[in-house]
Amino acid sequence: MFDHLKEQASRVLADRSRPVDDRLQDLCGLLRASVPHYNWVGFYFRNGKREELKLGPYAGDPTDHTIIPFGKGICGQVALSNQNFVVPDVSAQDNYLACSLNVKAEIVVPIFVGGENIGQIDIDSHTTDPFSEADVEFLETIAGEVARIL
Ligand code: SME
Repeated sequence: MFDHLKEQASRVLADRSRPVDDRLQDLCGLLRASVPHYNWVGFYFRNGKREELKLGPYAGDPTDHTIIPFGKGICGQVALSNQNFVVPDVSAQDNYLACSLNVKAEIVVPIFVGGENIGQIDIDSHTTDPFSEADVEFLETIAGEVARIL
């Protein structure tokens, strides 16, 4: 599944005739529509020089978490750790910001530009423990491609 989706995603991202945010928006919609266990797909980016993340393009239900301080929630922890964070069961996390009671699992993969963690891809799932190594590998590839167009 991910091989075909990678090709589609690359095509969306490579279309230089369109603004970056439009391409990221379409990418979110593509991933959400294509992968049954991706129920919310979005980007957070560092908010200028502040120690906080700002919500970027996303597909799925609106979230209250439009600004997330570094260190808060799964996203804020990834801003500091520079590591992927796979959460099979969000109810087991103390430092977690709930978007909706339907969300059971989450994965966050950082995006690096010039070695600097400038943002992340965040995915929520309504299924418990849905993410495998294939998701991680896929999302790392996407994060790398996104980094190249920023
Ligand atoms: N659950 C995230 C907050 C962002 S929402 O998932 C869209 C967190 O704990 O950082």
